[in-house]
Amino acid sequence: MDPPDGIAGVFDRAADTYDAVGPPWARPIARRLVTELDVRPGERVLDVGCGRGAALAPLADAVGRTGHALGIDLAPRMVQLTARDLADLPQVDVRIGDARAPDLAPGSFDVVAACLVLFFLPDPAAALRAWADLLVPGGRIGVTTLGEKDPGWATVDRLFEPHLPPALVAARARGLRGPCASDSGMEQLYQDAGLMDVRTVRDQVSVDFHEPEEFVAFSWSHGQRSMWEAVPQDAHARLREEVLAEIGRQRDASGRVTFVQNVRHTFGVRP
Ligand SMILES: C[S@@+](CC[C@H](N)C(=O)[O-])C[C@H]1O[C@@H](n2cnc3c(N)ncnc32)[C@H](O)[C@@H]1O
Repeated sequence: MDPPDGIAGVFDRAADTYDAVGPPWARPIARRLVTELDVRPGERVLDVGCGRGAALAPLADAVGRTGHALGIDLAPRMVQLTARDLADLPQVDVRIGDARAPDLAPGSFDVVAACLVLFFLPDPAAALRAWADLLVPGGRIGVTTLGEKDPGWATVDRLFEPHLPPALVAARARGLRGPCASDSGMEQLYQDAGLMDVRTVRDQVSVDFHEPEEFVAFSWSHGQRSMWEAVPQDAHARLREEVLAEIGRQRDASGRVTFVQNVRHTFGVRP
């Protein structure tokens, strides 16, 4: 199958290394999402934009063999690898599906989880409404978005900006002001989707790099890959040196660089 366009294409190309090079990032973030959702044995859960299963694997554990965990993702390589990784668990299915409008029966899930996906979608309000419709009455939904950027990490990100098309820089700035960028923005989306008992849980994950090269490999394996891919090829080598030098400057006495990933989990219940 041809790789998809846009951000799902970026993740299709990242799938082989996603959350597998450098420090764990998605797994500790997703673990908290799943814990807070308090999933019980026998429940039917959906993981939207499941990637390499950071949330899907613990969700599958929580529902057990009497439940069912479905992961959907638009990137075929993510689906292929995650289906392979979780093939021993009969309660899991992984398939290609579009988070913008999942082709699934309304009212067929006890729990919907979406970790680090909503902010990539062009219309987050419409997506959230579509996900809420998939829940049974009383069903729970949890969506994870990113909190404030670590200042040291933001300094590294800014090194990309002179090389990026202005439209991409503007889109990134718009994203920082959008509904997925604040607790109140996310909670408003939930209220507009008709969800109740809306609450936010904040978390912080420590992301430790032992050497500058590790950061570069990590950045290609995650969403930051979209920035690398937008930089003209002839600027890659120089930008890489600039990134390595900046990470080197931020090392502590032990030689490590630690970034703090602020995370927001927003929860609600379908009436
Ligand atoms: C940052 S990754 C998060 C993956 C996983 N949930 C995790 O926490 O590790 C974003 C995922 O969303 C997927 N994605 C992007 N747009 C999508 C869409 N319209 N429908 C389904 N998946 C999508 C990407 O392919 C990628 O796997």
